[in-house]
Parts: sequence; C-alpha cells; structure tokens
Amino acid sequence: MLGLGTLRRVVKEVRSDVAAARDRDPAARGISSLEILGSWAGVQALLAHRVAHALHAADVPLAPHAIAYLSRGVTGIEIHPGAVIGDEFFIDHGSGVVIGETAEIGDYVTLYQGVTLGGTGFQRGKRHPTVGDNVTIGSGAKLLGPITVGHGARVGANTVIVEDVPARSTVVGNPGHPVKVEGRKVEGPDADWIHLPDPVADAIKALSERIAELEARLAELAGGERPDPGVRELRPKRGRSSAGG
Ligand SMILES: CC(C)(COP(=O)(O)OP(=O)(O)OC[C@H]1O[C@@H](n2cnc3c(N)ncnc32)[C@H](O)[C@@H]1OP(=O)(O)O)[C@@H](O)C(=O)NCCC(=O)NCCS
Repeated sequence: MLGLGTLRRVVKEVRSDVAAARDRDPAARGISSLEILGSWAGVQALLAHRVAHALHAADVPLAPHAIAYLSRGVTGIEIHPGAVIGDEFFIDHGSGVVIGETAEIGDYVTLYQGVTLGGTGFQRGKRHPTVGDNVTIGSGAKLLGPITVGHGARVGANTVIVEDVPARSTVVGNPGHPVKVEGRKVEGPDADWIHLPDPVADAIKALSERIAELEARLAELAGGERPDPGVRELRPKRGRSSAGG
C-alpha cells in the first residue's frame, strides 16, 4: 500500500540520485539540486520512475504507465515501471535509454545515452538483464536477455552483450568479450579477437567452388569447353584489419 513510508523512501532515493549526478557528471559540479532536477533528463526520468515504480508495486492501475509514457516524451528515456533500480543510479545525457520490465539494476550504476537493457524476443517471465553494483555501461551498448552483469564491470560504448559478464571485467565489441579482468588485460592464445574465423565467408566460398565444379562437369558432358568459372579466388586478407587489428 502507498503511505508515508513509501513517500519517505521515494524522497530519499531522489536525493541520492541527485547526489549521484553531482558526483559522476563533471558538468553538474557546483550546480544546485533544483537546477539538476530541472535540467538533467537522466535525473528527471529517474524521479518519474521512482514514483511510477512505487505506484506499480502498490498495484495502482494506469498511473505508472502514464507516468512512464510522459517521462519518455519529455526525457527520451524509457523505463518500464516494473524495473527495479538501486540507489545512486545515474543516466548521463539520457536520450535513447530503454530499460525493460524485468531488468534489475544494483547500486551506484551509471548508464550513458542509447543503452538498452532489453529482451531478445517474445519470451515471458524474467527476460531482461540483471546489473550488479558499481557497473558502468557505455553509450549505445545493448544488453539483451536475462543475463547477469557482475559487480564492478565496465561495458564499452556500442558493445552488444548476450551472455553473462564477469565481475570487475571490461567488456567491449560485438559480440562483447572481456578485454580486461580484475584490471589486467586478457592475454594468451585466445585473446586475438580481431582475426576471428568467418564461417559465412567460408560457406560462400565453398558454395562458389561447388558451383564452378558443377558448371565445368556440365560443360564437359555437353562436349563444350570448360567455361571460365567467373568466380575469383577470395584473396587472403592483407594489411591491417578495418577493425583496427
Ligand atoms: C570500456 C571503457 C569503460 C574503458 O574501460 P577500461 O577498463 O578503462 O578499458 P581501457 O580503456 O583500458 O580499454 C581496454 C581495451 O578496450 C578497447 N576499448 C575501450 N573501449 C572500447 C569500445 N567502446 N569499443 C571497442 N574497444 C574498446 C581499448 O582500445 C583497449 O584496447 P587495447 O587493449 O587493444 O589497447 C571505455 O572505453 C568506454 O567505452 N566508456 C564508455 C564512455 C561513454 O559511453 N561515453 C559517452 C560520453 S557522452
């Protein structure tokens, strides 16, 4: 039920969210709480979510979704009222952030613009990520499915993650892979993530070769000359990878 206790909790959460913005956004240093509340979209979205979530938890109809809808219109940040968000959460810049219904976010988490904590399809039940404490998720990162992001992990900008992320690791790329664990670079024979095998190119190459062989056999059977297969050998990769390798 809604009561004074719920109101007190929401006010306390909003205070610590404003403090988080001041701590983590250099642009918010020395700015009054009122100004942060009035002009930081991430803080406004969170304020709206704190209220919508409290109403959702109290089974109040319509209002939670109406608040989330209005908040999305104003801030460009979409947070489902059912999402569970811990203390001192901060969304920097904000636009394009989507947080799904069954997402769970720990304490001291920072998200940048364009982050999605979404599902992978049309499943029901728990289908969004669980994010541990002290996690930073870079702009444009997509975290999909009921995966777990361990405490203290850092997810690079534009990373796509569909599997669990180890605690205290740095994960980058698509698909996301750890480049650092416990502050140390991942090394060893499996660490060359740039020059990975390309199964699609391999399959196309094998098909091209089979078609060329079949055309040659057909031409022989018809008594003609072997045609120019018209298929060029795929050249071996040369020079630097466009991905930076
Ligand atoms: C991942 C991140 C948090 C840095 O974490 P870190 O633990 O300090 O990692 P490092 O900077 O040491 O980078 C480790 C490796 O990952 C690479 N890397 C870092 N971020 C990357 C990214 N987003 N995509 C691909 N590779 C990335 C680095 O080049 C480095 O590669 P190397 O080992 O070959 O030199 C940071 O790069 C990042 O993406 N932050 C998001 C910031 C953001 O979204 N800002 C928006 C402001 S508007």
